[in-house]
This record gives sequence, structure tokens and C-alpha cells, in this order.
Amino acid sequence: MRDAAFPEKFYREGQHSYFDGVELEALANQYGTPLYVVSETIVRARCAKLREAFIQRYPNTRVYYASKAFQTLDMLRIVHEEGFGIDVVSGGELFAALRAGIQPANIIFHGNAKTDEELRAAVDARVGRIAIDNLEEIFRIEREASRTGTRQAILFRVTPGVDSHTHRFISTGSLDSKFGIPLEQSETERYIDALRACPHVEFLGLHFHIGSQLMENTSHLAALNIVLDFAARLSKKYGLAVRELNMGGGFGIRYLPTDRVPSISEFIDPMMAKVSEWSARENLPMPHCAIEPGRWIAGEAGITLYKVIATKVIPGIRTYVAVDGGLGDNIRPALYEACYHAEIVGTSPDAPALAVRAPQTVTIAGRYCESGDILVRDVTLPEPNPGDILALFSTGAYCFAMSSNYNRVPRPALVLLRDRSARLSVRRETYDDLLLREI
Ligand SMILES: Cc1ncc(COP(=O)(O)O)c(C=O)c1O
Repeated sequence: MRDAAFPEKFYREGQHSYFDGVELEALANQYGTPLYVVSETIVRARCAKLREAFIQRYPNTRVYYASKAFQTLDMLRIVHEEGFGIDVVSGGELFAALRAGIQPANIIFHGNAKTDEELRAAVDARVGRIAIDNLEEIFRIEREASRTGTRQAILFRVTPGVDSHTHRFISTGSLDSKFGIPLEQSETERYIDALRACPHVEFLGLHFHIGSQLMENTSHLAALNIVLDFAARLSKKYGLAVRELNMGGGFGIRYLPTDRVPSISEFIDPMMAKVSEWSARENLPMPHCAIEPGRWIAGEAGITLYKVIATKVIPGIRTYVAVDGGLGDNIRPALYEACYHAEIVGTSPDAPALAVRAPQTVTIAGRYCESGDILVRDVTLPEPNPGDILALFSTGAYCFAMSSNYNRVPRPALVLLRDRSARLSVRRETYDDLLLREI
């Protein structure tokens, strides 16, 4: 278990709070709030850790960054520089990845409902792999690849039927899931027949992803057993070699100071041992292995700064602290009851210093017109005051990416931190931006 300081790279010196060497109150003053703050230093350190624990430790391995977690042109370039491929799930993510200069061969295209336009764009761009999620897709790819006179490499994304012990909205590997191909014999034969009928589709291997934010390795290992059995069956019964095995993402991160998560090696090493034992036991070649983490790379690298707008005491019930953001910039608490840690990192000039304030258990409410827009329930802080700056930690994944303009609130700016300085990576939306598409 990893037990390093949390939040990583956050510290206080006197009255000031810093993240990755940059003073947070000054950032809020310069760029406004809410503000996404992402430490490039942490992102790169995480990439280095993945190289060390996976790519350098095991031959023929590859990391694809699941860019749905947090996709900006800067982020794509950073993970590309770190040597990783990119997982995209839409025409828009593909477009941005190509615009960021990612070589198509390093892109894997996912999705359970890829449109004709998206499949055409993927085949035309010559993406390295398409992960197939249903039978028709094989024929649709055949059509596109034969039109361009190419062969498109594919993986079967399979559903191992494993309960992944995470919130049901981020669990994907159980049998009743909209994602992936079921492993029943009758289904398998239909897929094999389709492959035989589609000479422009090249079967490379298998992919599975069982869920997100997994805090132990047991589900990955259970899923791997099932997928490896299937791989042996494909090889021996149908002569279909699994040359590549993509084991997805889902590796948990810390959201709360009390969270304990396995190190990345505690996920990877037993999985790689299992694949290698399988290869020896079945007398089948070791497939090239890949993983596809998103949250693990971006999550703890991000924090969000908010300004406290108002406080409201409901005697005997709770105290609400309303901030200038909420579900428009972070929908995760409302969507699947995600929990966050918060701290006050800047104080209003009119309010008492933190050191003299009494601790108070409060609920941090967002500004959006939904009762469910609660960012943190029951966090103990030095009595918050309007004008204070609040930080929410571990917001680097699935916050910016899932942001919306509900209530016509402009989406926040995003700054990247590196070498103790900040640079604007995404500007704040304006009211004019909000009307841009209206005719
Ligand atoms: C196919 C696939 N790969 C990778 C990921 C990344 O998951 P995580 O961010 O939990 O690592 C997801 C997330 O939903 C996914 O669906």
C-alpha cells in the first residue's frame, strides 16, 4: 500500500498554501475562480512510474493514456512526450489527438456506439487499433477498410463477467454491461465467422476493462483468469492467436487522506505473472501486453480552486458553504457519490486568520440549480467565510472532461504548473462563447 503524504505536492508555509511550488491564493487572484490547476510535474512523475513499473520491467509492453479522463492538447502532448499511446472514444477525441500530433499508429479507438463517421475517420486516419464492442462493427470496419484498400487491426473488447467492487456507474466488466462482447460460445462463433468473412479486418487480440477507481487488485486478476481462458480457447479451438492483450485501466487513486490504495506494481506484477504462467502452461506465445490508465495518471495531479460565496446555518442540521462552482465543473459527486477532500487555501482580507478560527463541520454546496449539487458532505474546516479560497483535491480526472454549461455558467480556466510556475492552458469561457453556436 502507498502511504505517501496526501495531497501530493501540497504544503503550507505560514499563511500561504502551495501546490507544486505555486502559491494558490495568488493563482486564484490572477486567473479567477473556479480554476482547474494541474501539476504537469505530477503527471510526468506518474508516467515515469508507469514506465519503470511496466514498460521497462516487462518486454513488449505499452501504455495507452485513457484520454477521456482529461483531454487537452497540452495533456496529449505531455503523455505523448512521455512515450505513451492514446486511447480515444469519439471522433472529437480522435480529432484532438491527431491535432496534438499523436501518430495514428499510437491511437486505440474505443466506444460502444461508434458512428459511421467516426469509424470512417478512424480507418482513414489509420489508427493503430480499433476495439470492437459489437458484431456489426466488424462488417462496418470491413466496408471502410476495403474502401481505402487497407487492413484495420482490431481487438475484441470482451466482458469477463466480474463484479468490480466500485460504484455501479463506473463498473463495466460485469455480464450485464453495455460495454464489451459476452464470452458465450454461441456469440464467439458468430464473431469468428464475421472475421472469416472480413479480409480487411485483422484480429490482433483482446481487451478488457472492468471498472474504474478499483482499490484492490482482485477484480483485475479474476477478470484476467477468465480472459486468458478465452484466449486459450480462441487459439486452440479456432486457430486465432491472441498476439496482444490490453488489460484496461481502473487503477485506484486517493481522494481522501484516509484512502489507502495499492501501488501500481501491486496491480501490474501479479497480472504479468499470471499472463506469463498462462503462456508457459498453455504452450502459447506471450502476448504483447498493454494497460490503459486514465485516472491514475491525471487524477491526483489536479485540484480545483473555488471562492466561498456564502455560508448558511440551518440550526441543529448543518452549515452550508456555497461556492462559485459545482456540478458544472465537477459532476462526479452528483453522478456517483464521489467523495473529495477540501481545505481553505486563501482567506478573505476581511475575515479572521485561519489560525484563530474554530473548526467547523460543513457541507460544501455548488452554485447550480440542483439539490444534488453538493461537492463535499461533512468536511471539517476552520470556520469558512465568504471570500475564502477553497481547494478540492484529486480533481484531475473526469472533472474538466465532464464539465458542462448548465445554468449558462462559463467553464473554468485551466492552468498547468511546472518548475514552480503556472501557465494558462485553457482560457475561461466567456458569455459570448456560450452563445457561439446559436443561429
Ligand atoms: C476502455 C477503457 N479504458 C480505460 C479507461 C480508463 O479508466 P481509468 O481512468 O479508471 O483508469 C476506461 C474508463 O472508463 C475505459 O472505459
